[in-house]
Amino acid sequence: MKNFQYIKMVFLIPLLVLAFTACDMSNKEQGQDPQVNDANVASTAQEIAEARGLSPDDITAALKTYMPTGKYDEYIMLSSGGQSGQVYVIGVPSMRLLKTIAVFTPEPWQGYGYGSKESMQLLKDGEMPIGENRELTWGDTHHPAISETNGDYDGEFLFIDDKANARVAVIDLRDFETKQIIKTPNVITDHGATFVTPNTEYVIQGSQYATPIPYYEYADLDEYKEKYRGMVTLFKFDRGKGRIDMSNSFQIELPPYWQDLCDAGKKVSEGWLVCGSLNSEMATGGIEDGNPPFEAGASQRDMDYLHLIDWKKAEKIVKEGKAKKINGFDVISLQTAVDDEILYLIPEPKSPHGADFSPDGNYIVVSGKLDTHVTVYGFDKITKAIQDKNYEGRDHYNVPILNFNDVKVAQVNIGLGPLHTQFDNKGNAYTSVFIESTMAKWKLGEPYNTGDDAWTLVEKIPVHYNIGHLVCAEGDTVDPDGKYCVALNKWSIDRFSPVGPLHPQNFQLIDISGDKMQLLYDMPFGIGEPHYVQMIKADKLKPWLIYPEIGFNPLTMSKDPNATMPGDEKTVRNGNNVDVYMTAIRSHFYPEHIRVKEGDNVTIHITSIEQARDATHGFAIDGYNINLSLEPGESSTVEFKADKPGVYPFYCSEFCSALHLEMAGYLLVEPKSGKTAKK
Ligand code: CUA
Repeated sequence: MKNFQYIKMVFLIPLLVLAFTACDMSNKEQGQDPQVNDANVASTAQEIAEARGLSPDDITAALKTYMPTGKYDEYIMLSSGGQSGQVYVIGVPSMRLLKTIAVFTPEPWQGYGYGSKESMQLLKDGEMPIGENRELTWGDTHHPAISETNGDYDGEFLFIDDKANARVAVIDLRDFETKQIIKTPNVITDHGATFVTPNTEYVIQGSQYATPIPYYEYADLDEYKEKYRGMVTLFKFDRGKGRIDMSNSFQIELPPYWQDLCDAGKKVSEGWLVCGSLNSEMATGGIEDGNPPFEAGASQRDMDYLHLIDWKKAEKIVKEGKAKKINGFDVISLQTAVDDEILYLIPEPKSPHGADFSPDGNYIVVSGKLDTHVTVYGFDKITKAIQDKNYEGRDHYNVPILNFNDVKVAQVNIGLGPLHTQFDNKGNAYTSVFIESTMAKWKLGEPYNTGDDAWTLVEKIPVHYNIGHLVCAEGDTVDPDGKYCVALNKWSIDRFSPVGPLHPQNFQLIDISGDKMQLLYDMPFGIGEPHYVQMIKADKLKPWLIYPEIGFNPLTMSKDPNATMPGDEKTVRNGNNVDVYMTAIRSHFYPEHIRVKEGDNVTIHITSIEQARDATHGFAIDGYNINLSLEPGESSTVEFKADKPGVYPFYCSEFCSALHLEMAGYLLVEPKSGKTAKK
C-alpha cells in the first residue's frame, strides 16, 4: 500500500493533471464551471485506479490504447487466420477486430460459399486438380503480403497462402474481398508464402515438405534423393487486372530440403530472393521402423542451407525457353538452375526459421531455432563471393555452397530460440525469441549504428507466451515506422479467463517508441493460429465505402452485364431454366414471389440498388443453404436446382431497417405432379 501511495504521487498525479486540462477545455467550450467538474473527475479517476489496482504502467497503457468513440486507429493489421482459412483485419493501437475476409473457407456473413456464383467459382478454382470431389473447405493461412511499390506497402492488394494445399489468394483492398484463388501446380504444401518482390512483379511461394515432382506421382521414400523435390513458385502479378497471370509465372526446382520462409531482396539486393530450409539432412523419418524421427533426423547437422535465388536471371531463362513444362507450367529444373547460376546455398545455423532482409536490403537476418544467435549476412559479401566463385563446396545436387565465414557479418547473442526479425526507423531490429518467450531489441551495424553500438543487444521484453512471428509497423519494408510491434504468441497461459481446453492465442501490443519497450495490451485471438501479420499505416488504404456503381460485380470489379437495374425486374422462363431479375432496397425485394416448378434450374440475378453506407442486405433462402451478402451497389447471382418442392420463405438476413423483418418473400416450388403454376 505504501508503495502504491508513492507511485500514485509520482506518476498518477501528472496524468490526472493532463486529464484536468483536457476536461477543463471541454468544460469551457460547454460553458460550465471548470472548478466543480475538475474535482469530480479527479476523485473518480483516482478512485477507479485504486479500486482496480492499476499501476502507473497500466494507466499509461490504457491511455495509449483507448480509442474514443468515433476515432480511428492509426494502423491496420492484416492477419492470417490460421486454420480458419481466412484473413482478419485489426486496428492498432486499439486492437479492435474490424473484419473477417473470407478466403479459403466458406463464410456465411459475407455470403461466401453459400450459393453466390462469384464465391462458388472462387472456391472451385482452388480445388485440387486431381481425382473426383477434391473440394477443399478450409485452408491454413500463413503469411499475408501487402503489395509494394519501391519496397514500401502501397495498400492496393493483399496476398495470402494456404500451407495445407499450396494455394495463394489475391485480395483487393478496395473492397477487402478475395478475387482469385490459385492451386499451385506441382506442389502439395507451402510455407514460404506469400512474399512480394519490391514492385509486386511477383508473388513468391516456397514449398515446404518435399514431394515427388510432379506432385501426383508415386515414388517411395527410398527414392527420396532422386525423386523428391522442393519448389519455389514465382507468380507474375498483373496489377492492372488485379490478378496473377499464370501464363507468365514459373517455378524453380529445388533440392528436397524442406524450404521454409522466404523473403525478397530490396534496394541493393533487389532481383534476389532467399528461402531458408530445415532438412538438409534429407531425413525421411519412420520412428515406427527404428529410424530417427523427423525431429531428430532433420536436426543432425549444425548447418542447414539458406537458398539464394537470382529471380531476375531466372525470369530471363524462362523467356529464353529454357524452362520445361510440367503440367503445362514453366519449371526451371534443378540442373538448369545450377548450370545457369541462379541458385546458391549459404550455410545457416541449426533448424533455421526466419530469413529477413534489412530495410536497406544489405543484411539478411537468419535465426536458428536451436541457436541463441541471430546470424547476419552481408549482401555485399555475398555478391563478392559469387563473383569470386568462393565456394566451400557443392551439395549432393552440385549447387554451390558459399563460404559461411566469408559472407557472415555478425552473430548477435539474443537468447534461445530466435525466429523472426522486423525493423524500426532508428536502426534497431526486433526478433521474436520462442524458447525464452521474449522479444529482443538489438542494434544493426553500419550504416545504422557504428562502433561499439553495432550488433549489440539493447533490451528484451517478456511476452506471454511462446512467441512465433512478430510484426512491427511497416517493419519489413524499406521504410519502417517504429512505434508499435505486436508479439504473436502461441500460448496465452494465464492471460485470459479460461474457456475450455482449447485456449485463445495472444496478440500482445508493445510500444517501441521510447527508450524502453512497454507492453500495452493483450488481445485474445480465438479464431485459429494467426501465423503472420503485416501492419500498414491506415491512411495508405483507400477502401470504397459503397460500390462505385449500381450493379457492380465484385469478382470482375466492373458492372455486371446481367445486373438487374430498377424497373428491369422480371422472371424469364426458357424451358426448365428460370431467370429471376431482382432488386433489393430497404425494405423489400422486387419481386417478392418466385414461382418455379420442381426440377427447374433457377438463376437469380439480384442487385442491391442501395447507395447508403452500411445499408447491406442479405438474401437467404430457407432450406436451400443459400445466403448472399449484398453491399450497396453490389450485383450477385445465385444458381440452384429447385429439387425440393414446397414453399420456402426467403428473407433479408441483415438487420437493415425498422422493417427488416418484412423484407422477405416466398419461393414457391410447385411439385411436378401438382396443378399448374399461377402465371
Ligand atoms: Cu434488408 Cu434486412
